[in-house]
Amino acid sequence: MTRGYFITFEGGEGAGKSTQVRILAERLKGAGAEVVATREPGGSSGAEAIRALLVTGDPDRWSAVSETLLMYAARRDHIERTIRPALERGAWVISDRFADSSRAYQGAGGGVSPDFLAAMETHVLEQTRPDLTLVLDLPVEQGLQRAGHRGGPEARFEAKGLAFHQRLRDAFLAIAQAEPARCAVIDALAPRDAVSEAIWAAVSARLPVGAAA
Ligand code: TMP
Repeated sequence: MTRGYFITFEGGEGAGKSTQVRILAERLKGAGAEVVATREPGGSSGAEAIRALLVTGDPDRWSAVSETLLMYAARRDHIERTIRPALERGAWVISDRFADSSRAYQGAGGGVSPDFLAAMETHVLEQTRPDLTLVLDLPVEQGLQRAGHRGGPEARFEAKGLAFHQRLRDAFLAIAQAEPARCAVIDALAPRDAVSEAIWAAVSARLPVGAAA
C-alpha cells in the first residue's frame, strides 16, 4: 500500500475553506480515494478539547507563545492519532489549517520568532508535511465580513483587528511565494464553483488524482 497524500487549506478568516474542503473531499472520493477531512486546531479528541481553550474567550487570554504551545500540543495529537494512521493506510488527508496557520497567526500576527516556530516544525511535525497547501486568498475586509456573518462563540481570533488580519494575509502570501513547489494561491473572492474548479486544477496538476481510483 502506498502512502496517501496530505493536502492542507490555509488562509485568513472567511475564505470559505471548510466548504472547499468538503467539495474537494467529495471529488476525491468520486475518483475512488479514501479521504479523511479534518481540521485544526482539532481533528482528534484531545486536540478538539484543546481547541475549546484556544478559540473562545478573551482575545488576550493567551500570550502568543502559550498559544503556539497549545496549537502544537493539539497538532501533535492530531498527527499521531488521525493524520499519520490515515496516510499510512493510503488515505488522502485534507486538513482545514495546519502549521502555516501557526506561522501566520502566532508568528506574523503574534510576534513569535521564526526560529521557535521552525523548531516546533522540526520536532513536532517531523516528516509529516503537506504534499500540497492551498492558500485561499481574499482581501481582509471581505473575509472578516463573511466570518462575522457566521457568528457563533468561536470568535476569539476574529476579534483581533484589521492590522492583525492584514499581517496574516501578507504572511500566507509570503509562505506561498517562498515555497512554490508546495503551495498554490487560490483567489477566494471568485464565486464558489470557480474556487472549487481552481482548487481541482491545482490538485490534479500536482498530485496523482487518477491513481486514487
Ligand atoms: P478556523 O476558524 O479556521 O476553524 O480556525 C480557528 C482559529 O484558530 C482561527 O482563527 C485561526 C486560529 N489558528 C491559529 O491561530 N493558529 C493555528 O496554528 C491554527 C491551526 C489556527
